[in-house]
Amino acid sequence: MQERIKSILQMEPSDAIVRAEGWVRTKRDSKNVSFIEINDGSCLKGLQGVIDKASFDAALLDRISTGCSIVAEGRIVASQGGNQKTEMMIEHLEVIGDCPQDYPLQKKRHTVEFLREKAYLRPRTNLFGAVTRVRNTMAYAVHSFFQENGFMYINTPLISASDCEGAGAQFQVTTLDLENIPRQKDGRVDYTKDFFGRMANLTVSGQLEGETYATAMKDIYTFGPTFRAENSNTTRHLAEFWMIEPEMSFCTLEGDMEWAEKFLKYLFSAVLEKNEEDMAFFSSFVLPGVEDTLRHVIESPFAHMTYTDAIAVLEKENDRFEFPVKWGVEIQTEHERFLTEEVAKRPVIVTDYPKDVKAFYMKMNDDGRTVRAMDVLAPRLGEIIGGSEREYRYDVLVSRMKEIGLNPDDYWWYLDLRKYGTVPHSGFGLGFERAVQYVTGVANIRDVIPYPRYAKSCEY
Ligand code: 4AD
Ligand code: MG
Repeated sequence: MQERIKSILQMEPSDAIVRAEGWVRTKRDSKNVSFIEINDGSCLKGLQGVIDKASFDAALLDRISTGCSIVAEGRIVASQGGNQKTEMMIEHLEVIGDCPQDYPLQKKRHTVEFLREKAYLRPRTNLFGAVTRVRNTMAYAVHSFFQENGFMYINTPLISASDCEGAGAQFQVTTLDLENIPRQKDGRVDYTKDFFGRMANLTVSGQLEGETYATAMKDIYTFGPTFRAENSNTTRHLAEFWMIEPEMSFCTLEGDMEWAEKFLKYLFSAVLEKNEEDMAFFSSFVLPGVEDTLRHVIESPFAHMTYTDAIAVLEKENDRFEFPVKWGVEIQTEHERFLTEEVAKRPVIVTDYPKDVKAFYMKMNDDGRTVRAMDVLAPRLGEIIGGSEREYRYDVLVSRMKEIGLNPDDYWWYLDLRKYGTVPHSGFGLGFERAVQYVTGVANIRDVIPYPRYAKSCEY
């Protein structure tokens, strides 16, 4: 019988021979027996294996060291030690891959900075094992939430010719020879010679294409990688991150906010339910109380505030901020944290931002100054979701594009949606890594994705 360690740990003592496969985390020797801890990533805790030294070749036992891979067979017995209910009395043992003494993950606590340099080994640590399991639970829950609610999963393109967020923070995709760039007469690059015959980029968001499917399938979602060449060296930004973007037709901003809140709470509940041991670990070693915070968030309704009201609150506190606010400026992380941590003490949804700080596609309010945007702000992190009701009125959208210098011809297909059977619709984007950060309490976004990409860093 071969099982994952997670299920072996749930077995009752019996005479059946069980086979465990994994990596040795620790080895402790006493006079007659050795204790090893075997981990296979299926859960935080390892299986304790007990080796009666007299029954094994000393040369074999010498090869067992932290990091080596082994196969062990034996019976599950009640443990005499206090740390575990059961253990395996090992009867047969094989070292599959030896692990010499220069293995970087010797038993001690390593800093996250050190582990980032060993990103190919860090899933073998308690912290990254736990993050990996929680991330897995959340990815699965993303799909189950939307599938249970009748949303259609859409794969939007990663290579795109439009700039959804209009922020100009795109990575260019080209097969042109950069040493010998073809040029037009006026000196500009001749993109007709490029692979797609035009300029192309990695997508910053699947939203625009998602909208085309929402206006046929009613409710859709995307879940995929997005790319941003923003040079932000922060604990919340990556150049490659995963985003979940639902889009709902016949839905206004109110419905959008309801979906966002329901969705986040569903994700958090899934982790509390499925990753109890990992969450206890995060509460003990990463962020005290993170588990209780999640419970509190699930139970209480999110706070709501318009941008204008938020600015009124923030202005009174301007001397505490690095960037003082006034109406019209962008709300930054320090302000978002103040609103969530000091004012509301829970997540806050801020709505109706000035049009000038938001993207072109958001529905204009009647005041002509603000748009039907909403950001969900979370304590510790600030913005975790950005969304809006979309401008579905053809003429208003065209004049808005012109106003901010976009050429409507470049968005002809997007505008056609407003021409052929237009409908109010809304959506949002959840940054998957920010959600994992929030749930685990991990401080740096670089530690919740296997291989973080950011400015000047593309190792592995
Ligand atoms: O607010 P953003 O830019 O919104 C959009 O991209 C819309 N198209 C979403 C939509 O309405 N369908 O990004 C959405 C979320 C942010 O709230 C944040 O959580 C995350 O994506 N995000 C990042 N996460 C990590 N690194 C970055 N550089 C991020 N930029 C945005
Ligand atoms: Mg945003």
